[in-house]
Amino acid sequence: MPMHFKESQLAARIQPSQTVALTGLVAELRRHGKDIIDLGAGEPDFDTPEPVRQAAITAIQKGKTKYTPNTGTLALREAIAANLQKEYGAVYQPNEIIVSNGAKQSVFNAILAICNPGDEVILPAPYWVSYPEQIRMAGATIMTVVNPDYDEFKLTPARLRVAISSKTKLLILNSPANPTGTVYTTDELHALVDIIRQHEFFVLADEIYIKLIYDSVATTSLCAFPEIRDRLILVNGFSKAYAMTGWRLGFAAAPTPIVKVMDKIQSHTTSNACSISQEAGLAAIAGNQDAIAMMRQKFDERRRFVCDRLAQMPGIALRLPKGAFYVFINVGELLGRHANGKKMNTADDICKYLVENAGVALVAGEAFGSHLHVRLSYATDMKTLHEAMQRLEKAFGEMVG
Ligand SMILES: Cc1ncc(COP(=O)(O)O)c(C=O)c1O
Repeated sequence: MPMHFKESQLAARIQPSQTVALTGLVAELRRHGKDIIDLGAGEPDFDTPEPVRQAAITAIQKGKTKYTPNTGTLALREAIAANLQKEYGAVYQPNEIIVSNGAKQSVFNAILAICNPGDEVILPAPYWVSYPEQIRMAGATIMTVVNPDYDEFKLTPARLRVAISSKTKLLILNSPANPTGTVYTTDELHALVDIIRQHEFFVLADEIYIKLIYDSVATTSLCAFPEIRDRLILVNGFSKAYAMTGWRLGFAAAPTPIVKVMDKIQSHTTSNACSISQEAGLAAIAGNQDAIAMMRQKFDERRRFVCDRLAQMPGIALRLPKGAFYVFINVGELLGRHANGKKMNTADDICKYLVENAGVALVAGEAFGSHLHVRLSYATDMKTLHEAMQRLEKAFGEMVG
């Protein structure tokens, strides 16, 4: 009798990542000869800085190819701790830091370490695609808090207060945010911290884009607030700021009891992050930061260009994002319109039309918790962005009545 496969209950609770699926669709269309500009991917187009690559080559040549401690090499954890102290005045010991295979794993380790079935996790929307699925895998309950455009998509103290219940176990805060580029100011963080410290739940601060902030916004890390140190899990990594997405290197800083449990979970899933990547990460964080400044400046130029052009296009609305490398475009006015005889009922329909007819791949907002938006990543060169803007202008103009 043929073997019957039915996915596990855990797997059935979650959806595949739409951003990863889009990358697959773009590859498929390109294989069929279509000229697609991919503004869907969430990764810098830059090469990893040369000294970082060199450090990895040296690591291989020196035979640093064995298992490391599960939580990462002491040298890397010390460098991370030194960096948190230098940048935010936060004091962490190396045993309060765990290095993982990307920030994504750190987020998942933290959720698994903290949440039980029935616990509530407050998730401000729009949100990064993996948070809800990771919360579901942990069996916890998602308490989505919708934050509209006119509030710059920010969780306000009032909305946080309403979301808190006796079952709240964790709040996820992502600043700068994916997909909106929203950055909370120091004052706004202060106001949230004032509420958080009066309750008993943990806070997962995903600050993977914190080195990509524009317009000199006055902000800081949540680790700069000692009053919530006992309940904070800070997540950061190397992927975005150092153009190291493929190296799979991230970390979390948290009180030792939490790190110990994350260590236990990681020790039975992946073990340590790649030894060579850790040597590269050490060179990235401890070395000269000029490459970051150069990349940030290029992202800033692209941000301004893309937002200026988009602001003139028909049927869409946007806010100038203050961080990361995304624009979250409101396409609400286009819903219900037609193009090439097709009705645009959802943001997903608009994205399908754009990729198939204009050759531009964007991600529909549904995966980020908004039915009114699409996400554009400007992490690509100016020539490509010029062409993309031309194509988008034409395509949006075709969506009529
Ligand atoms: C908000 C956010 N957190 C975490 C990650 C994961 O980063 P990493 O590639 O280091 O796993 C991403 C990547 O897209 C992200 O946007």
